Amino acid sequence: GVQEAAVSTGSLPAPADVQGLLAATHERYQQDRRGAVADYIPALAAADPDLFGLSLAAVDGAVHSVGDATVEFSIQSISKAFLFALVDSELGHETVRQAVGVNNTGLPFDSVMAIELNAGRPMNAMVNAGAIATTGLVPGSTGDERWVFILDGLSAFAGRDLHVDAEVYRSETASNGRNRSIAGLLRSYGSLAADPHETVDLYTRQCSVKVTAEDLAVMGATLAHGGVNPRTGQRVVEPSVCRDTLAALAASGLYERSGDWLYEIGMPGKSGVSGGLVTISPGKGALGSFSPPLDPAGNSVRGQRAAHYLSSALGLNLF
Ligand code: DON
Repeated sequence: GVQEAAVSTGSLPAPADVQGLLAATHERYQQDRRGAVADYIPALAAADPDLFGLSLAAVDGAVHSVGDATVEFSIQSISKAFLFALVDSELGHETVRQAVGVNNTGLPFDSVMAIELNAGRPMNAMVNAGAIATTGLVPGSTGDERWVFILDGLSAFAGRDLHVDAEVYRSETASNGRNRSIAGLLRSYGSLAADPHETVDLYTRQCSVKVTAEDLAVMGATLAHGGVNPRTGQRVVEPSVCRDTLAALAASGLYERSGDWLYEIGMPGKSGVSGGLVTISPGKGALGSFSPPLDPAGNSVRGQRAAHYLSSALGLNLF
């Protein structure tokens, strides 16, 4: 058994310990069969519920992985965290707060009611409304230019060239009436800066970008490391942008379950409906996980359990 560390101190344990701990964590939760694979996007319904990968990236560049950590899947809502960072980096702390917001809705990620209840404000960049509003703020004079900004930005966080899963993009485009409605509603309130059709298309493409659990760990570790990618050494964003992003994640990264998440894990995190999850330990590193079965809020069951276990074992709870 792993001893629970009392407080968050120092750096991650020695590499050998981390690898053994990750393997033990993987074994502990592999047999957990709770949760259900997302099916509102047809291409996601076919995901293998047994896939389970964990990867831990430290700010010094060390990466430790176990299980299906190099299997690609669509990033989905985890893109929202990094789009927020990229747009914050362009427009600044106060502009994104005013245009998008940083408060939790208390409602599911695809809520339309949350927009109506808040006078048309998108509320935060981690729910679909706020993510669409954030993508609407991406700089560029054409859709192509804006797409290059998005894909290059996500790739810089990952430290490698990322690509779209064409099948997921096609499937989601054919079934995203709800996001189109959200964009239209935001636009009617003056809360979406760009064309709603183009913005939903960019948002859908951004959600379809393929990553692995290892990529998520490196992307998260870049936020943990003040914006410098620990794998490439490239500065992606400034430290102040990391602070803004991690604050927004703490408030809303796991939607209406963000309070429970913070209470149990004590670190900012972001989930996606394909089963990805990233948990960030500021100054230390990040955990990326992939396991498709989700809880009712749309958060990976095994991913949350693994994050909880590792947070305790490594003493990473910030509080
Ligand atoms: O817009 C959607 O519904 C999806 N592309 C992303 C939603 C998502 O990942 C929610 N996460 N748990």
